[in-house]
Amino acid sequence: MNILILNGPNLNMIGIREPNIYGTKTYSDLEDFLENLKSKYSIELDVKQSNSECILIDLLHSSNDRFDGVILNAGAFTHYSYALYDAIKSIGIPVVEVHLSDITKREEFRKISVIKDACITSIMGLGFQSYEEGIKYLIEEGARNDS
Ligand code: DQA
Repeated sequence: MNILILNGPNLNMIGIREPNIYGTKTYSDLEDFLENLKSKYSIELDVKQSNSECILIDLLHSSNDRFDGVILNAGAFTHYSYALYDAIKSIGIPVVEVHLSDITKREEFRKISVIKDACITSIMGLGFQSYEEGIKYLIEEGARNDS
């Protein structure tokens, strides 16, 4: 199984930005955490981050024929980017929405995810573990579809 991990705006700043919310571990720590999951689950992972909506959309489009699924932390685009919603709807592979924090327990504007309905599930509030749970979901989803 080949999975694209796509991180959106400001996720490169974790460890520095709002440590009370996102923790003190850095983006490089997240990359190391994800790297370890490759052998744990015998999967291929490609990890990308961009602060640009345009680049995230292009990466989603090009993921279609290269990956079996996508784990997407869209950052603040989660709350207002209908363009990302459309991009997710444009591709045939499953996309899991993930967040480090629990957006349902934060400011009003964060409680709404406009990409949620385009994704197969949403996993949040578990820090780095949200990504691992997303990967497990995609692996189980793949197994469900094979049987
Ligand atoms: C986030 C939550 C978003 O509301 C925020 O804009 C982020 C990070 C999270 O992982 O908790 O940048 O997606």
